[in-house]
Amino acid sequence: MSLLQLCFTSFLLLLPLPSYSLNDEGLTLLSFKQSLQQKPSTTQLQNWNPSDTNPCSWEGIGCNPLGRVISLTLPYKQLAGSFHLDSTNLTQLRHVNLRSNNLTGTLPPELLQSPALKTLVLSENSISGPIPSEIGNADRLQTLDLSQNSFNGPLPPSILNCKRLKQLVLSSNLFSGSLPDGIGPSLITLQSLNLSSNAFTGRIPGDIGNLSNLQGALDLSHNFFTGAIPSSLGGLPETVYIDLSHNNLSGPIPQSRTLLDAGPTAFLGNPLLCGPPTKALCLSLPEKPKPMADDPLLEPGSGERRLSPALLAIAIVSGTVLAIGVVALSFAYWYKYLTNTSFNTR
Ligand SMILES: *[C@@H]1O[C@H](CO)[C@@H](O)[C@H](O)[C@H]1NC(C)=O
Ligand SMILES: *[C@@H]1O[C@H](CO)[C@@H](O)[C@H](O)[C@H]1NC(C)=O
Ligand SMILES: *[C@@H]1O[C@H](CO)[C@@H](O)[C@H](O)[C@H]1NC(C)=O
Ligand SMILES: *[C@@H]1O[C@H](CO)[C@@H](O)[C@H](O)[C@H]1NC(C)=O
Ligand SMILES: *[C@@H]1O[C@H](CO)[C@@H](O)[C@H](O)[C@H]1NC(C)=O
Repeated sequence: MSLLQLCFTSFLLLLPLPSYSLNDEGLTLLSFKQSLQQKPSTTQLQNWNPSDTNPCSWEGIGCNPLGRVISLTLPYKQLAGSFHLDSTNLTQLRHVNLRSNNLTGTLPPELLQSPALKTLVLSENSISGPIPSEIGNADRLQTLDLSQNSFNGPLPPSILNCKRLKQLVLSSNLFSGSLPDGIGPSLITLQSLNLSSNAFTGRIPGDIGNLSNLQGALDLSHNFFTGAIPSSLGGLPETVYIDLSHNNLSGPIPQSRTLLDAGPTAFLGNPLLCGPPTKALCLSLPEKPKPMADDPLLEPGSGERRLSPALLAIAIVSGTVLAIGVVALSFAYWYKYLTNTSFNTR
C-alpha cells in the first residue's frame, strides 16, 4: 500500500457515513431541546439521543411511515424556558402540543413555517407577547389553542388567512383591541370560538353571525365589548353555546330562539342590556339601523316619539291604578260624610 493509498483510506474512515448521522429533522428538534431551560435534576427528554439517525423513537415524537416527523406531543412535562423551534425543515409537522408546561418568552414565528401545521396547542404556559403576523402562513391550521397564557396585543388581521380553522381558543390571556372585520366570512369553518377573559374592546362585528358552522362555543365573556348585540348573532345555529356575559354591551337583546335559549346567564354583567331573556325592560325603542345620510325616506325623529309597548303598558296600568284610587278615595270621603251626618242627625 502506498502512502497515498493509506492516506486516502484513513480519510474515508474519518468521514462519517451519512446513515450514521442524525438527520436535519433530528437536529432541528435537538436545538429545540437546547433552547429549553436545562434542569440537571430532571431527566427531561432523556432519550433524545444525538447519535440516533432520526428522531422517530424519541419521547413525544411521531413519524409517518417514511420516517418524517409529523407530531411533537409533550404536554405536562414541566418544560421551562423561552423555547425556540424552527419548523422550516419539519415539512411534514402537523401537530404540536406543548400544553401545561412552564414555557415563557414569545411564540417564535419560525414555528409557523411548517406548511403542514394543523394543530398548535400551547395552552397553560406563561408565553407572552403578540401572535406573530406569520400566523397567516399557517393556512392549514385547524386548531389554535393559546389559552391561559399571557399573550397580549390585538389579533393580527393575517389570522383571517387561516381559512380552515375549526377551533380558535384564545381565552384567559391579555389580548386587547377590537376584532378584525371579516371574521365571519373568512373563518367560515370555525366550530368553536373562545375569546373569554381578555381585554378585547370595540363592537362585536356583525359578520360573526356568518359563522354558520359554529357548533361548540361562542364565548366572548369577560371582555370590554361595547355597543349593541348584532342581530345577526340571533341567526347562529341553536346548538351554539353563547356566552356574552361581563362585557359592556347595551341595548335590546335581538329576539331569536338562539339568544333566548342562551338564558339570562349568557348576558349577566352587562347592565345596559335589556329585554328577554333578562328581566330588564327595554324602556326605549330598539336601536334602529342608522339610515344613510342621503336616504330620501328619512323623516327626522320619526318613530322616536312613539311609546314603546312596555312604556304603553306601564302608562295604562298606572292610569288605571290612579283612577281606581281616586274613585276609592272619593267613595271613602262620601261614606264618612254620610255616616257623620247620620250621626249628627241622631
Ligand atoms: C435545514 O436543513 C438544511 C440542510 O438540509 C440546513 O442547511 C438548514 O440550516 C436547516 N434549516 C434550519 C432552520 O434548521
Ligand atoms: C410549572 O407550572 C405549574 C403549573 O402549570 C406550577 O405548579 C409549577 O410551580 C411551575 N414550576 C415552575 C418551576 O415554574
Ligand atoms: C373558554 O375558556 C375558558 C378558560 O380558558 C373556559 O373556562 C371556558 O369554559 C371556555 N368556554 C367554553 C364555552 O368552553
Ligand atoms: C353574511 O350573512 C348575511 C346574512 O346574515 C348574508 O347576507 C351575507 O351574504 C353573508 N356573507 C357572506 C360572505 O357569507
Ligand atoms: C360602558 O358603555 C357606556 C355607553 O354604552 C359608557 O358610557 C361607559 O363608559 C362604558 N363603561 C366602561 C367601563 O367601558
